[in-house]
Amino acid sequence: MGFRSDFLWGGATAANQYEGGWNEGGRGPANTDVMTKGSKDQARGATYTLPDGSRHLTKGVAVKDLPEGARFEVLDGYEYPCHDAVDFYHHYKEDIALFAELGFKTYRMSISWPRIFPTGMEKEPNEEGLKFYDNVFDELLKYGIEPMVTLHHFEVPLELTNQWGSWADRRTIDCFIRFCRTVFERYKNKVKYWMTFNEINNIYFGFLSSGVPGDDLQTVMQAAHHQFVASAMAVKIGHEINPDFKIGCMLAASRCTVYPETCNPADVQKAWEQASRQYFFADVQCRGYYPSYQLKYFERNGIHIQKESGDDEILKEGTVDYIAISYYRSMITAAPKQEGSDPLLLGVINPYLEATEWGIAIDPMGFRITLHNLYDRYQLPVMIVENGIGAADEVAEDGQIHDPYRVDFFRSHIQAMKDAVDIDGVDVMGYTTWAPIDIVSAGTGEMRKRYGFVYVDKDDEGNGSLKRSKKDSFAWYQKVIASNGENL
Ligand code: BG6
Repeated sequence: MGFRSDFLWGGATAANQYEGGWNEGGRGPANTDVMTKGSKDQARGATYTLPDGSRHLTKGVAVKDLPEGARFEVLDGYEYPCHDAVDFYHHYKEDIALFAELGFKTYRMSISWPRIFPTGMEKEPNEEGLKFYDNVFDELLKYGIEPMVTLHHFEVPLELTNQWGSWADRRTIDCFIRFCRTVFERYKNKVKYWMTFNEINNIYFGFLSSGVPGDDLQTVMQAAHHQFVASAMAVKIGHEINPDFKIGCMLAASRCTVYPETCNPADVQKAWEQASRQYFFADVQCRGYYPSYQLKYFERNGIHIQKESGDDEILKEGTVDYIAISYYRSMITAAPKQEGSDPLLLGVINPYLEATEWGIAIDPMGFRITLHNLYDRYQLPVMIVENGIGAADEVAEDGQIHDPYRVDFFRSHIQAMKDAVDIDGVDVMGYTTWAPIDIVSAGTGEMRKRYGFVYVDKDDEGNGSLKRSKKDSFAWYQKVIASNGENL
């Protein structure tokens, strides 16, 4: 009973939210570098210029109806939280020492694509960028921490967006594969665990998650097809380079955890339908083909996926070794109350659950249900690579950071994961919290929304010493790892 003896406990981050050093070491700008700071009430935007020299900020990051000739650029006078983030680029030794103190078995991180290929289009990689990750991996391995690498975590070289619209254009696949091949070859003896696209189903967010300037269904689904092909090619190439590689997909599983608002069958049907829009992404990557329900959905909505001959074979040959997920919350849906309304946006609050300040429903039982569903559906090991609570932690008068709500959150979720293993028989490989140290929020660009066991002294205005301090939850997670999840 309990977790496997080789259970991969750890924490997870993403380069664009953590690393900083955005224009150091030969790195090129990414889509995330033109995204401004927002808040829980105000969406982030992206800055661009027009051929007449005028400067603009999009409303939100879905970037609808972009004018002809728009070019995304970093502009004076705007705040871009990802530029410096919390500077892992210069603090990696100190931070990794803290991860080692926590007892991490693994650390999930992403490689910044434009740090290796600054515009995405170069034929040769940027050696200084490659060297940086060599140093990071060596530092992790020094402590016996297994690196786990996401190849694409919301970050695309900006030039690919400006030239081609990023993943909306098939040529982006070749650039991505060049990047994958380069890092697979370079780190084949240092990294064993990889995953292709972070939260691939969040491609619905367009620019924020994939650099695609547009969010109409046709564009998004075509871009998703390009990512499926790229992911399958990466899996195949990775296995050729090192047969011991374990390469997974990564799904935002909160979006599959959709409850009907009532037991009215119309609501239940709607919940199934909503979840299917999300499961579809893992179906393609785990099973190797488009499911029939999604083909029907495309037909109904006039979506036509442009495939090249050979794509279907590629998808079949490049199925993943495991399924990685993020899980933060559950959702509620209902049959549309009026024609054309989006049920997921009805803002229904689950009366049985508490929510965070950012309106995220806290639902450990939903976590167990989702793990069970996913394992049943794919019969592949499940790796939880994101789970955590964003909260506005404060430094107390005694100079400490007391975060009992974080301990409560993790205790209930780890217990639910344990139930999934012990009661439901789910094969869980490991668990990495989001994020072990405070980093920039992807959704809002805030620092105030903190997830870490380690507090970073930086505020929303960019002030602070970047000093790292342990919160109360640090010692608690340390104890959990040391007891392989027994001591909660
Ligand atoms: C996931 C992303 O969606 O959620 C992370 O993979 C992100 O990049 C995390 O940071 C938490 O969301 P947020 O908006 O609170 O940072």
